[in-house]
Amino acid sequence: MVSKVYVPPIKIQGIKTKIVNMISDHVYLTNNSVWYEPFMGSGVVGLNLAPHRAVFSDTNPYVIEFYNGIKSGQITSGIVKEFLKCEGAILAEKDDEHYYAIRERFNQHHDPLDFLFLNRSCFNGMIRFNRYYKFNVPYGHKPQRFAKAYVTKIVNQVKRLETVFSENDWVFVCCSFEETIAKAGTEDFIYCDPPYIGRHVDYYDSWDEDHEIALRDALFQSGAKFMVSTWDENKYRKNPYIDTIWKGCYKLNKEHYYHIGGKEENRNFMMEALLTNYDASKVPLRNIRNGHQFHLFESLMEY
Ligand SMILES: C[S@@+](CC[C@H](N)C(=O)[O-])C[C@H]1O[C@@H](n2cnc3c(N)ncnc32)[C@H](O)[C@@H]1O
Repeated sequence: MVSKVYVPPIKIQGIKTKIVNMISDHVYLTNNSVWYEPFMGSGVVGLNLAPHRAVFSDTNPYVIEFYNGIKSGQITSGIVKEFLKCEGAILAEKDDEHYYAIRERFNQHHDPLDFLFLNRSCFNGMIRFNRYYKFNVPYGHKPQRFAKAYVTKIVNQVKRLETVFSENDWVFVCCSFEETIAKAGTEDFIYCDPPYIGRHVDYYDSWDEDHEIALRDALFQSGAKFMVSTWDENKYRKNPYIDTIWKGCYKLNKEHYYHIGGKEENRNFMMEALLTNYDASKVPLRNIRNGHQFHLFESLMEY
């Protein structure tokens, strides 16, 4: 269990904030492990586990650029504060006109600060692109979005990244999962959170049966311990791939509720699954590192 769940400055649909504790309670890390996270998204999982050595990757270049900017010191919490204060004041005055001007600017120049601005003021904190890889999420219609307290919150989230990046040896790479998984060895741990099969229809991160099979094959070929997040069932159906593509893996479950819009009657049930190639219900004692608790294995012995 991590003592406090840190929320990263980037939001994304499918963010794993609510199951960070469950994941951290069941990962399999040794002193020599490198943490591989080939679908990093917001990075909330690795950020909270804070392993000493890690490779984070994603096919979304803007997320990677943003984190690399913080790592190199090109983007600092101070720069983020000034930027959001300034652009936030214009948003308060010009409302949607300014949001769409920044969206246009981002789609031309791809500045990571514009990406942050859009990500935190768009509809529902979504990341979505059209077939030409242009960011196309509409405005969240909150002209006062970047009020002082909200800017402080984001700045603190960036500060947390500055701290954790300076304490650990992490790299961020823009590439597809195959490339990242191919680098992992038998002592390493791979956590995968791909787009949920049968549920994603976006152009930019479409995910089908062929992808799911390629992921499974790459994971088994790596020889590393791995964990895959997926959905198990919702109120309408079960994920058919758990007993086919992922047959032979161990499974842990957690119930989860999410809302579509703000209405209570739109509360939806979803059973999340964690699939592993080891018996995650038997992971032994936890250790504390970087102020977080998680399972740290002294050696890669089977138990
Ligand atoms: C469900 S999100 C990950 C969310 C993340 N675990 C979090 O909590 O923020 C899936 C991510 O996979 C990325 N992605 C989609 N297709 C990919 C591929 N072929 N290789 C690597 N990343 C991919 C998307 O850009 C997206 O960031």
